[in-house]
Amino acid sequence: MPSCLVDNHHRRIDYLRLSITDRCNLRCIYCMPEDGMPKLSHDEIMTYEEMLRLVELATQMGISKIRVTGGEPLVRKGVLYLCRKIAEFESVKSLSITTNGLLLADYAEGLLAAGIKRINVSLDTLKPEKYARITRRDCYHKVWHGLERALALGFQPVKLNVVVMKGWNDDEIEDLARLTYRYPFHVRFIEFMPFSSVDQASKYLSSDDVLQRLVKMAPLVPAKVNNGNGPARHYKFPGAVGKIGLISPISHHFCPTCNRLRVTADGKLRTCLFSREETDLRDLLRRRAADEDIVAVIRRAIDRKPERHTLESEVFRKCIGRPMVAIGG
Ligand code: 5AD
Ligand code: SF4
Repeated sequence: MPSCLVDNHHRRIDYLRLSITDRCNLRCIYCMPEDGMPKLSHDEIMTYEEMLRLVELATQMGISKIRVTGGEPLVRKGVLYLCRKIAEFESVKSLSITTNGLLLADYAEGLLAAGIKRINVSLDTLKPEKYARITRRDCYHKVWHGLERALALGFQPVKLNVVVMKGWNDDEIEDLARLTYRYPFHVRFIEFMPFSSVDQASKYLSSDDVLQRLVKMAPLVPAKVNNGNGPARHYKFPGAVGKIGLISPISHHFCPTCNRLRVTADGKLRTCLFSREETDLRDLLRRRAADEDIVAVIRRAIDRKPERHTLESEVFRKCIGRPMVAIGG
């Protein structure tokens, strides 16, 4: 019987973000250098069997929502097998994936059959040339095709992750928001976090600035969402079919409602995106530790989950210790 997992700050922990690879087929400027990052070796990355054992233990502890992330999760062979197996756990009430969408047109049907209905797709611009500049790959149309496919197949919700960067795509805030009149997308504007070499200070635009721009378009009303304990504030334009979300990791701490754990592709448990602290679970799995020992290690890590992050943005990247691509967002 799954239990209820609560940390020392009265937060219910029920959500696990599982990174299944550190590889990616894009090179987004806000995430990676042009030449990519040093990659984990094959042996360092957890096998699917190891991941499934972890997921099983986590669900027994009280995790009921799982998001598969990367790098780009769809580049790992067998991803549909993994999703199908995760969905088979009775305690998994919600299974979702975050993808850059490049392979979505090919995988959408398989993902749905594997038990995934909720997807988040990164899309920072509606202009193909700009997309190529931001992601360093010329594949806007492939992603858009993937999104159309996902809508046609009935994924619900289809969320678009937009990292807002001054001078890069802030001229498109209105156009991206307007998509919600035509499509049932949930467009989420995310504050730019300093994880890459891009100068954060000059590119950063707060969610409140984005909101001010949006309310000039039409009266925004607060919107209800399912699974609504994530870090986003939700709105809707009257008459729109989609929703708008504002995610403010920099300007508004969402730590008091943080319900999540992260596991990296090499099996390190991170209880806070903004903390360097990691707990090695892969080594325990490979040493054939007993279930109760692994559960105890996870429990102790959760007991140390910070109440809130206090980092200043300039020291942010140094402090998290790994690039975003290796954590999975
Ligand atoms: N700032 C904000 N969001 C980021 N992401 C990646 N890098 C950054 C950053 N520097 C987001 C992308 C992707 C998700 C996994 O993480 O939008 O959708
Ligand atoms: Fe890949 Fe996502 Fe990083 Fe872009 S943000 S390079 S899609 S991992």
